[in-house]
Amino acid sequence: MVLFIFSCKYIRTKIIGRIRAERMIFETHAHYDDEQFDTDRDELLNAFYENGIGYVVNVGASLKSTQTSIALAEQYPFVYAAAGVHPNETAELNESTFEWLRKQCLHKKVAAVGEIGLDYYWDEPSHEIQKYWFERQLVLAKEINKPVIIHSRDAAKDTYDILAAQDAGEIGGVIHCYSYSQELALMYVKMGFYIGVGGVVTFKNAKKMKEVVEAVPIEKIVLETDSPYLAPEPNRGRRNSSLNIPRIAQEIAQIKGISYEEVIAVTEQNARDLYRI
Ligand code: NI
Repeated sequence: MVLFIFSCKYIRTKIIGRIRAERMIFETHAHYDDEQFDTDRDELLNAFYENGIGYVVNVGASLKSTQTSIALAEQYPFVYAAAGVHPNETAELNESTFEWLRKQCLHKKVAAVGEIGLDYYWDEPSHEIQKYWFERQLVLAKEINKPVIIHSRDAAKDTYDILAAQDAGEIGGVIHCYSYSQELALMYVKMGFYIGVGGVVTFKNAKKMKEVVEAVPIEKIVLETDSPYLAPEPNRGRRNSSLNIPRIAQEIAQIKGISYEEVIAVTEQNARDLYRI
């Protein structure tokens, strides 16, 4: 009996990612290598399938977390990785670490280069250094033909200008945790990007984000949590996980006047197109 249960579980794990009759939630941005998950990571991730979560992209934000993201992707069939260095971590990049990063990007379970971008909320490192390594990582993504995951905070104009100058729409990607205007969101969609919508859309004071969701076609929205950060209402302030995605999808369904099932189905397809999975 024990052996029977074990083999069923084994077979089920094997077919995840191959045969799926029903639409599954696609979590496009999480950080399960974060130490906040050290106590229950395995238990949590193993509960995803029965909770309708079919795919997770675990996003690197430094050299170290690129490595730990790839390790998670090797361990779990439904987890994919993104390899990249977050703007505030770019001081660790030099020619030799960048060469190491390039090699990681070629791993077969690395679905994207990210998260990369600009973050002027923090002054370290300088804007010039952030811009330099943002451009280098964009060029890398183009060379290896993988999409990009963009992190942009308090840097709307520079981010847009660099992405436009690099023709980044050609490789495509997602503006993760989108936080700017409706107009700019539509400009990104036109350029070829998806808009990442997470827990913030459920906050009572998130008028701007609700307007963005109203304006952007559902075919250009992907679901994300940025776990362990940015938990949606009513869990705001607590540790986030992909189990909270239904709350985000419900909010989007309500704003757009469509069903919850449609949000899940369309965003799953969007994310698969985005990450080519
Ligand atoms: Ni993130």
